[in-house]
Amino acid sequence: MAISNNPRKILVTSALPYANGSIHLGHLVEYIQTDIWVRFQKMQGHTVHYVCADDTHGTPIMLRAEKEGITPEALIANVHKEHAADFADFLVQFDNYYSTNAPENKELSQGIYKKLKAAGKIATKTIEQFYDPVKNMFLPDRFIKGECPKCHAKDQYGDSCEVCGATYNPTELINAYSAVSGAAPVRKETEHYFFKLSECEQFLKDWTRSGTLQGEAANKMGEWFENGLNDWDISRDAPYFGFEIPDAPGKYFYVWLDAPIGYMASFKKLCQDKGLDFDEYWNKDSSAELYHFIGKDILYFHALFWPATLEFSEHRKPTQIFAHGFLTVNGEKMSKSRGTFITARSYLEHIKNPEYLRYYYAAKLNSTMEDIDLNLEDFVARVNSDLVGKYINIASRTAGFINKRFAGKLNPSANNSVVAEIRASAQLLAECYAEREYGKALREIMRLADVANGFVAEKAPWVMAKQEGQDAALQQVCSDALEMFRLLTLYLKPVLPKLAIEIEQFLNIAPLTWAAVDASLAADHTINAYEHLITRVELKQIEAMTEANKENMQVTAAPQLHSEQRHAAHQQNAAANAEAKEAEYISIDDFTKVDLRIAKIVNAEHVEGAEKLLKLTLDIGEDKPRQVFAGIKSAYDPATLTGRLTVMVANLAPRKMKFGMSEGMVLAASDARGGPFILSPDVGAQPGMRVK
Ligand code: MSP
Ligand code: ZN
Repeated sequence: MAISNNPRKILVTSALPYANGSIHLGHLVEYIQTDIWVRFQKMQGHTVHYVCADDTHGTPIMLRAEKEGITPEALIANVHKEHAADFADFLVQFDNYYSTNAPENKELSQGIYKKLKAAGKIATKTIEQFYDPVKNMFLPDRFIKGECPKCHAKDQYGDSCEVCGATYNPTELINAYSAVSGAAPVRKETEHYFFKLSECEQFLKDWTRSGTLQGEAANKMGEWFENGLNDWDISRDAPYFGFEIPDAPGKYFYVWLDAPIGYMASFKKLCQDKGLDFDEYWNKDSSAELYHFIGKDILYFHALFWPATLEFSEHRKPTQIFAHGFLTVNGEKMSKSRGTFITARSYLEHIKNPEYLRYYYAAKLNSTMEDIDLNLEDFVARVNSDLVGKYINIASRTAGFINKRFAGKLNPSANNSVVAEIRASAQLLAECYAEREYGKALREIMRLADVANGFVAEKAPWVMAKQEGQDAALQQVCSDALEMFRLLTLYLKPVLPKLAIEIEQFLNIAPLTWAAVDASLAADHTINAYEHLITRVELKQIEAMTEANKENMQVTAAPQLHSEQRHAAHQQNAAANAEAKEAEYISIDDFTKVDLRIAKIVNAEHVEGAEKLLKLTLDIGEDKPRQVFAGIKSAYDPATLTGRLTVMVANLAPRKMKFGMSEGMVLAASDARGGPFILSPDVGAQPGMRVK
């Protein structure tokens, strides 16, 4: 029943978190998702190894260490300790948590590179890059700032604008400057090493079709194939914190080359420690299974670069890649100003119990790449009602009678239909866990808890306890309820491993594996004293947590962004990167400086040669209409705009554009879900009215 009879060999990874920031609730979606899956597979009796590591290389880490006046090695050692403690406290149980800055990784990375080179998959090309003439280093896009070419917001990053959301090349920035030294960057030639991804297209297409990806991910791949695959730039110039490329002095592997190889390195270290056979898991013809859990933002790396790297260095490819969506809090991206950018540590300080979050995430998780929302009020309600009100309630209403009246001795009935019903769900639940349909699993488990509570309520042991001659019946009802509780504990164990151990001690049973579904608490088995197992979470704890995170608005280093991520998942990144900006409030005076007016679109037309712009003529009750160029061509047919009312910024400094003067700005909404959508006032508004 629900137990596979041939034990499998399974290697599982979660993405390697960057060593330049703290673990936050967004990260935890992934580590908790993976950990639940791993624990479930281990309960099934399979041989499972779960490895991870800190992702330690790259320019941001090098520069942050410099700023803190320590070596990168010291920085990553500190962060490693912090990350490892965070994961342990959230019960994320890696078999090895390593670092990409490790000898095994250096050797593997250089070895794989040599294989790729021998396979003719490496090319060199001279490219032009921005260079900081003061700091004497090439600058990644993220370290070039300047004025947004589209909305003219100041101090925007070299890849995208946090104000208007535009994406562009750093060359398009106005008055660009180096975020490291402030100097104006110059363009400089340099020779880079490329992995010829363009030659791997057929292999990747075949691989994609082999069932390794979720449907949505395979679709995304389809889009990438359509756009054509570019060769992948895998080198960076010194100074760079990373591994040197063999026979290429002054050239280093780009962090994303050695990061996934870090999965192998972490496993290699585990093999050394535990006497496992590395090749058995990584050889081209390996029959072991390999699963990577990742966020949807790094699909490009894992579904294109990584399998190609493995294929052409003669290694096995992943069995499957499991991508999940992004975390929102209260329906919005995590935000420092709202206090919802919550670190793992801060959660623990305020809420204490990591299993509440594990439970809540599990309840929300499924096998798709959809985003998941942590609604803090719902979190409180859900945890209290499901865990305290339903699950633990079964034991807290029955264990006391066994302990007090029967010296802890059980005497279950031979044939309880509720126990049978709960046991019968084992197969379904095993499938749900295996397929990462945790939400579905927990709904079923809570349905079973309801049935168990119904049984207890109907039998009312507290009434029996007061009646003469009901002892045997009382003992039986409570024993049966505890058997139900045992089964539910088994089902919940991947999600609530610490609570399960406490319950195993209370029930005085061996650690629950999936096979224990078919066992049961025997007559005469003695349980231990029931002790309070779980405390309700209070809304005020949540409030204290969000308050503390509001006060705690440290400025953190700019998140590390890569050009591939920009292509693949620009929206999510833009969302996350907008954080720092958001922490600042504006005053009412700042706001009233903006002259917002109702505008009537008296004319709208295409602009010859402009890809995104429409030319609008706007009546705002002045003598002369305003001319505004608006980037809304993708969403609007000009003919449908004429005559409409909208809202414009009337006192934006006029600016000269390639196509003429733009005398203001029209307001429109957009994000990853769509847009732009121009704003419309309610019926009755007249051109020229002030908006305030
Ligand atoms: N270092 C790379 C991964 C290298 S893997 C060879 C990286 N690090 S990260 O710290 O930015 O993210 C680590 C994992 O956490 C990624 O899978 C990412 O998708 C996930 N998440 C980070 N923020 C997240 C949310 N807000 N929500 C859900 N997952 C998130 O990417
Ligand atoms: Zn902009």
